[in-house]
Amino acid sequence: MEKAPSSSVEIVEVGPRDGLQNIAEFIPTSVKQELISRLRLAGLRAIELTSLVSPRAVPQLADGRELLEHPHIQGLLADTSLRLPVLVPNIKGLDVALQRGVREVAVFVSATEGFSRVNTNCTRRQGVERAKEVVVRAQEFGISVRGYVSCIFSDPYDGPTEPSSVLSCVKELLAMGCHEISLGDTLGTGSPRDVRKLLTYLKDNGIPMSRLAGHFHDTHGNAVANVWEAYHCGLRVFDSSVNGLGGCPFAPGARGNVATEDLLYLFMKAGIDTGIDISKVVDTGAWVSGMLGDQLGCNSCSQP
Ligand code: HMG
Ligand code: MG
Repeated sequence: MEKAPSSSVEIVEVGPRDGLQNIAEFIPTSVKQELISRLRLAGLRAIELTSLVSPRAVPQLADGRELLEHPHIQGLLADTSLRLPVLVPNIKGLDVALQRGVREVAVFVSATEGFSRVNTNCTRRQGVERAKEVVVRAQEFGISVRGYVSCIFSDPYDGPTEPSSVLSCVKELLAMGCHEISLGDTLGTGSPRDVRKLLTYLKDNGIPMSRLAGHFHDTHGNAVANVWEAYHCGLRVFDSSVNGLGGCPFAPGARGNVATEDLLYLFMKAGIDTGIDISKVVDTGAWVSGMLGDQLGCNSCSQP
């Protein structure tokens, strides 16, 4: 899997997973499939398709298996030039992914205890061990693994995060074999100053910026600025969600991911190549907001 050259950035579209997971009313699998198809047609080459987690934890994505079996999704999965990760919490999820031709999975750990317990029913340490089991088995099958570290700045239950906790999660995920670590500002509380401080700390402690991705939620409207700061610190991979959809059911009050449209506009105006057709993404955003209608507001309904 090639990294984007340094003069360009890679956008990882997480709308079909992070964007939809917190929406209460079930979205038909056919709509999810069409969303992915439209994103691909807009030029996105890295799309997180869904998650294979406990259906009780995230009922909205309980159709992950069916989605992956859809002939159109199977066709995309056969294209080895695309990155189509699927989020898995454990071996059970990995095995389902393996049986459906998935070539990249994403594991997730929290830098903090509170979110780890609520999101994955385990301690931070147990979460890292669980991720390791997935990575070891994935590697036996030649599956690449992306790692997420959540709550890089703050935790909805524990408050501010120690940078040393982020560092140890990043180190452990890299050591176990994750090819890229996506740093999740799950609550969207970070500012550009926080971004620079954390990335400088990670760099000073030996973490190559080329192995990191930025995953910024937009609770306080800082996400685009955070991406720009992270770009200047050396990051070249950014997660985003069409129309700014998104949020985590276990991070109450957090808003969606930074909007893919906003990132494309930012980079286009800066003369930085993304290889993506912004007008088609804007059309896809309008289409998905039409499909979801009133549901779009629900990410902001729950308060911390
Ligand atoms: P648990 O209850 O401790 O696990 O949950 P368990 O092994 O005891 O299993 C409980 C039930 O779940 C069983 O079913 C299992 O079969 C089933 P039952 O026998 O009771 O009917 N189960 C599964 N079903 C399907 N697929 C699976 C699976 N695993 C177990 N893979 C567990 C532990 C981790 C499974 C659960 O807490 C869970 O699924 N958590 C995931 C929560 C989640 O998806 N959160 C959102 C994604 S993370 C996020 O959004 C942050 C991110 O965007 C970055 C950022 O913004 O920071 C990535
Ligand atoms: Mg997220």
